[in-house]
Amino acid sequence: MEVKSAFSYFSATQEVEMSMVEYSTQDGIGIISVNNPPVNALSIGVPQGIIESLEKGNADPEVKAFVLMGAGSTFIAGADIREFGKPKPPGALTLHDLLPKLEASKKPVIAAVHGTALGGGLEVTLACHFRVSVPSAKFGLPEVKLGLLPGGGGTQRLPRLIGVENALDIMISGDHIPAQKAEKLGIVDEVIGDDLLGGSLDFAKKVIEEGRSLRVISEMNASLKADNPTEFFDGVRKGLAKKARGFLSPFLIVDCVEAAVKLPFPEGSARERELFMQCVQSPQSKALRHVFFAERQASKIPDVPKDTPVKPIKLAGVVGAGTMGGGIAMNFANAGIPVLLVEKSAEFLEKGIGTIEKNYANTVKKGRLSQPEMDKRMGLIRGTVGYDDLKDVDIVIEAVFEDMDVKKEVFGTLDRICKPGAILATNTSTLDVNKIASFTSRPESVIGLHFFSPANVMRLLEIVRGEHSSKETIATSMQLARTLKKLGVLVGVCDGFVGNRMLAQYGREASFLLEEGALPQQVDRVLYEFGLPMGPFTMSDMAGLDIGWAIRKRRAGIRPKDERYSPIADKICEMGRFGQKTGAGYYRYEKGDRTPIPDPEIESLIIKTSEELGIERRDISDQEILERCIYPLINEGAKILEEGIALRASDIDLVYINGYGFPVYRGGPMFYADQVGLKNIYESMLRYEEVHGKNWTPAPLLKRLAEEGKGFGDL
Ligand code: 3HC
Ligand code: NAI
Repeated sequence: MEVKSAFSYFSATQEVEMSMVEYSTQDGIGIISVNNPPVNALSIGVPQGIIESLEKGNADPEVKAFVLMGAGSTFIAGADIREFGKPKPPGALTLHDLLPKLEASKKPVIAAVHGTALGGGLEVTLACHFRVSVPSAKFGLPEVKLGLLPGGGGTQRLPRLIGVENALDIMISGDHIPAQKAEKLGIVDEVIGDDLLGGSLDFAKKVIEEGRSLRVISEMNASLKADNPTEFFDGVRKGLAKKARGFLSPFLIVDCVEAAVKLPFPEGSARERELFMQCVQSPQSKALRHVFFAERQASKIPDVPKDTPVKPIKLAGVVGAGTMGGGIAMNFANAGIPVLLVEKSAEFLEKGIGTIEKNYANTVKKGRLSQPEMDKRMGLIRGTVGYDDLKDVDIVIEAVFEDMDVKKEVFGTLDRICKPGAILATNTSTLDVNKIASFTSRPESVIGLHFFSPANVMRLLEIVRGEHSSKETIATSMQLARTLKKLGVLVGVCDGFVGNRMLAQYGREASFLLEEGALPQQVDRVLYEFGLPMGPFTMSDMAGLDIGWAIRKRRAGIRPKDERYSPIADKICEMGRFGQKTGAGYYRYEKGDRTPIPDPEIESLIIKTSEELGIERRDISDQEILERCIYPLINEGAKILEEGIALRASDIDLVYINGYGFPVYRGGPMFYADQVGLKNIYESMLRYEEVHGKNWTPAPLLKRLAEEGKGFGDL
């Protein structure tokens, strides 16, 4: 393609000339190509480049139509997220300058999409007169995932193009829509073949030859199936109250779409802009943008370069078909990787496979999986009671009992049987990965892959780097996480790794609060209102109290004598109350119902315990409950960072959001700490230290940052 002119943009920091938008002509059609790698975001310079290309083409009598496309692997993936909240250079033209110019072009403008047209990218296409795409293209308005709403006319134009109900679904879910569905919905006029340029030029010629009238979406009306718009939108808000609890932008999206139905386009657009600005400035959007970049950062390991060789995983093994092993095996099958599931007896194997089958069958029943797909996945899981079959696997993940002797036996066997170079991974949650590695002659191939329960559902995968884990083993594990659609976060070896180590601090303070005057329902309410899916006591009842009880009994002998210890959980277990599974724990439960009901019996047990401990009960404020539960997480996070167990504060945020339900719109505990201000947290910790002692001693890193007026984000 001959490039006739280019819009040049000089970055202030980088003295490099970049052609962000290229313009050329072919067969009387102006081709505007956005070239802003890696994802052709609408960075400063791009809207201006498109506008200049349009002006050039409109002034050229030879040009009869435009094709607007993306160079490289994608169309425009949206606004440049890094630019939000930053001042624009004076005079810089924006998306809002571009959109009316596209619509007003006298010559047809055809958006030709490959890769993804997301956010502002899709909004650009909606200001064009026609949209075509290759079959593999995807469309979406994912702003909601960044705590935003479509602010480039998307809330006004999409309902006008495809109807209110469909548009709301797309904006509230933020999901990517495949081309075929987009065509069915009416977003795409035609799915052309795989030849993006050829197909779109042919389409443009058809438009010219047939003299098709130009469709200007802003001049259309937004159609709503329901008779009463006010009732309809109130219903949507009600539906969102539970689904989007705590989130701001889904509700503002509904407000914008209501405006699209009730107001003329210019006023609806003004409303959209106003609410968009509210979103951009909200702490929620800052948090969600932090999470977006944190997820991309997490895959970058400073001493494991991008070009580190990665082993192909074509066959996997899982040892132990219990709670975790079964779920892990399902992950491989879901990704199309054959997996051998090894048990110690035929009976346990049958039970494990039966559970997997039941899990899949439930998903089929809910309509989220087809029967043939379930059969295919089950066909990829082969059970065996012999270890010999593991000789050909590329990776094996051990998920047997949490007992060092059992792990020793299993890893000794794996070392003998598995082929050289195979990765030997452990799913241990508390044991020393280095010690496990020492049971083999190849510690470089040993790594921890700590899945979370249910392993086939939870997105987090803590990848525990042993002292000797090789770069190849780490790189392959990070790649495997992506293949299994997990979020892999690299952590180091310590008791509880990142997540469980932090959780222990949280659980400890929650139980002390009970002794000092709070009741389970108050603590749980405060944390629920903060945004967690449930408070610590509801969670314990759900997970089962017996597991923690067994661990505490095992550790009783090694607990330091001067350590404060709350006996409440043990007393509840001694009553045979293990949580939901026994119909009672911190709460009681009606048969067949999981709603926790406060139980006077537990309340008197708690009050009696306070008496026995000589603690005078007092009213505890919600604020204290919040600080007492969340600040220890942050303090432990600071220690984890100092010790190099986590690479960066944002990795800790990802662990806590994806493994423990920390509200994503608060950005994770470390980001939240920066929002509160480390100085404030540090000072509160000193106050609590005076009353509660060394559990509250601030981590040296927290102290240093607080004194320097910095945050974890400054590290
Ligand atoms: N702005 C700035 N940088 C972006 C970006 C964006 N919109 N989208 C992606 N990037 C960056 C990533 O940070 C990453 O940078 P890195 O290499 O330095 O880590 C690089 O581009 C590649 O991104 P991914 O690793 O995510 O690449 P994938 O190929 O896996 O995914 C994608 C590509 C599907 C486009 C994915 O990046 C994505 O979902 N991006 C965000 C899309 C989005 O949310 N758009 C809406 C923005 S808000 C908006 O448009 C407001 C408007 O309504 C006014
Ligand atoms: P589980 O008790 O449900 O399953 C263990 C399975 O291993 C049993 O089916 C048992 O028969 C089998 N097994 C024992 N010894 C074996 C051997 N020598 N060879 C083959 N199979 C053997 O245990 P669960 O909960 O699945 O835990 C497994 C591992 O995962 C443990 O290390 C645990 O700490 C860890 N983990 C558990 C989580 C959970 O929530 N349950 C979360 C994350 C990690």
